[in-house]
Amino acid sequence: MIEQDIAKVLVTREELEECVVRLGNQLSKEYKDKNPLVVGVLRGSVMFMTDLVRHMPIPMEIDFIDVSSYYEGTESSGHVKIIKDLDTSVEGRHLILIEDIVDTGRTLLKLKELFEYRKAESIAVVTILDKPERRVVDLKADYVGLEVPNEFVVGYGLDYAQKYRNLPYIGVLKESVYQREILD
Ligand code: PRP
Repeated sequence: MIEQDIAKVLVTREELEECVVRLGNQLSKEYKDKNPLVVGVLRGSVMFMTDLVRHMPIPMEIDFIDVSSYYEGTESSGHVKIIKDLDTSVEGRHLILIEDIVDTGRTLLKLKELFEYRKAESIAVVTILDKPERRVVDLKADYVGLEVPNEFVVGYGLDYAQKYRNLPYIGVLKESVYQREILD
């Protein structure tokens, strides 16, 4: 079972639920007359996004974009390739970008630039987790669930080698798991 690879639980399901309710209420107030386009950045955002929109009883549309960030070691490099684009035009729309984590900030900075170029009316960034100490570009999330320390976190959408996204909480991965992979 995947739980045996987790060293400790960092954010429980209940704490995640509290964040989702709080952010859902906040966003519902601010976007109630704006018919926002809620954009999930695949794949990590899926669990958070599907929970969040069910706490936003306002008119909205949803869409998804899949980007691949090129990594240099453990950091995204700022080169972002679109794997799957939105199906919806963003011109004149109020966008709410949903992420599982903001780390260096490079991916979201690139996405914001792209949607500004495509003439979105407004762009807000919502993330369930924020690692501010890892930031290397000037990118601030507008709505944050929780700030987390610089640890190897997985679960609730976040992966390690594409696994652990289905854990219902955020956990810290045991060092032995990624050391094992390096040795393999
Ligand atoms: C993760 C995360 C963000 C990005 C954050 O995506 O979902 O999109 O990295 O990193 P940054 O702030 O350093 O740019 P990843 O490329 O791992 O894809 P995934 O969502 O499919 O897990």
